[in-house]
Amino acid sequence: MQLGLIGLGTMGANLARNAARNGAQVIVFNRTTEKTDAFMAAHGGEGDFIAAHTIDDFLKAFTGQKAIVLMVKAGEAVDEMIKELLEAGGSGLVANDIVIDAGNSHYHDTERRTKELAEKGIHFVGMGVSGGEEGALLGPSMMPGGSKEAFEILKTLLESMSASDGANGKCVAYIGEGGSGHFVKMVHNGIEYGIMQLIAEAYDLLKRESSLTNDQLANVFAAWNQSDMLQSFLIEITEKVLRKMDADTGKSLVDLIKDAAGQKGTGKWTTNAALDYGVAIPTITAAVDARIISSAKAFRVEQSKSSPLSVQPHEDMADLIAQVRTALSLSVANAYAQGFQLLEAASKEHNWNLDMSEIARIWRGGCIIRSTLLQHYQKMFAGDPTAATFIRNKFSPDAQLQWRLIVALGALRGIPLPAMSASLSYFDAYRTERLPQNLIQAQRDFFGAHTFERMDKEGAFHSDWK
Ligand code: 6PG
Repeated sequence: MQLGLIGLGTMGANLARNAARNGAQVIVFNRTTEKTDAFMAAHGGEGDFIAAHTIDDFLKAFTGQKAIVLMVKAGEAVDEMIKELLEAGGSGLVANDIVIDAGNSHYHDTERRTKELAEKGIHFVGMGVSGGEEGALLGPSMMPGGSKEAFEILKTLLESMSASDGANGKCVAYIGEGGSGHFVKMVHNGIEYGIMQLIAEAYDLLKRESSLTNDQLANVFAAWNQSDMLQSFLIEITEKVLRKMDADTGKSLVDLIKDAAGQKGTGKWTTNAALDYGVAIPTITAAVDARIISSAKAFRVEQSKSSPLSVQPHEDMADLIAQVRTALSLSVANAYAQGFQLLEAASKEHNWNLDMSEIARIWRGGCIIRSTLLQHYQKMFAGDPTAATFIRNKFSPDAQLQWRLIVALGALRGIPLPAMSASLSYFDAYRTERLPQNLIQAQRDFFGAHTFERMDKEGAFHSDWK
């Protein structure tokens, strides 16, 4: 099949090469012509590529129904490109053509674009793509939503391009209508934020409580990557990061990196969406907050002078490592659970009919949050009681105690563990029969006559508190 691809940044170029390797004739276009030429010089011989220097040439290169992947910056650039394709005159988009937005677009934008293009009979597919540069080239996880008809046309190509799910399937499935594909990708990124922060906290605690070198810490992560709860891409790359030496200084590279995390916004969007749908995702929100706080480097340096922390090295390292592993495992399981809960809520609200088991399955390979744990979620959502039991058993009283000891240790030592403690509080709150919100209700009624419900009788009540 013919596939157009606009935007030859790293992700776009790699997706184009992936599609060509899997048998598509790929028509490529980039606004900066030099980029198109550089792409052709480097990769033109790898497959059946047509390079276009103008939008007009790009559109004319299609022999039939057009299917065009946009890999441009999320936001206005997507709208501008669609406008240009629509207004291109004779060879521009016509009814039945397909536009696939493969960037990290906001799902509200995708909902709007789907409707606008559907009015013209044009299929719009908002497709989340995860896996970074390497995934885009060798096999990403793909989350297409929007036009089902278009998905059916693209299905064979997308299946051949995507990663294996480790069990005879491919990491792509039709997600649902409208912006659901981008919503699922956004939540994927929220979970990604949560797990990355949790790993960073485990690393920080171990580093500050011990005299372990980065190489020894890498060995710890390597061992954790063998466990059924923690085996994952993010633990795997953490080991590699900890082993990397800086060629110029001969020092460990991670130690030289400024401790201020960047963000492009998908984590924040996840938290905003969770607030909109009334779902608590405290682990993910704590991860967004932690990035915000990290960026105030100068302020932190100043504050650290006035209240320095003294940390005593921990004596029983094997014990500590085992406890941190448990605390991390349970917190990570919570981060996934919060993401899935958000998906459930949005699915209901939009009638997307999201298939949680399928989403867990297509996250098993190719994407940033791929892990062994996801196969248990996949089975659990498919109704397998043994998978639910597997996850529940991991929260045994002994494991919970280890989790609490680690969160308490962080508090005692003044080592911030925002995502880990948020996970623990989330877990504790959801298994607490009586929470203190009776007092909140009383306060609300006290100052605002907001009324309250009673446990002993039906109805709405107001009291004269004064
Ligand atoms: C992926 C990644 C990718 C990217 C995000 C997050 O699934 O391949 O999530 O989409 O890493 O943009 O980036 P920030 O950390 O900059 O928000």
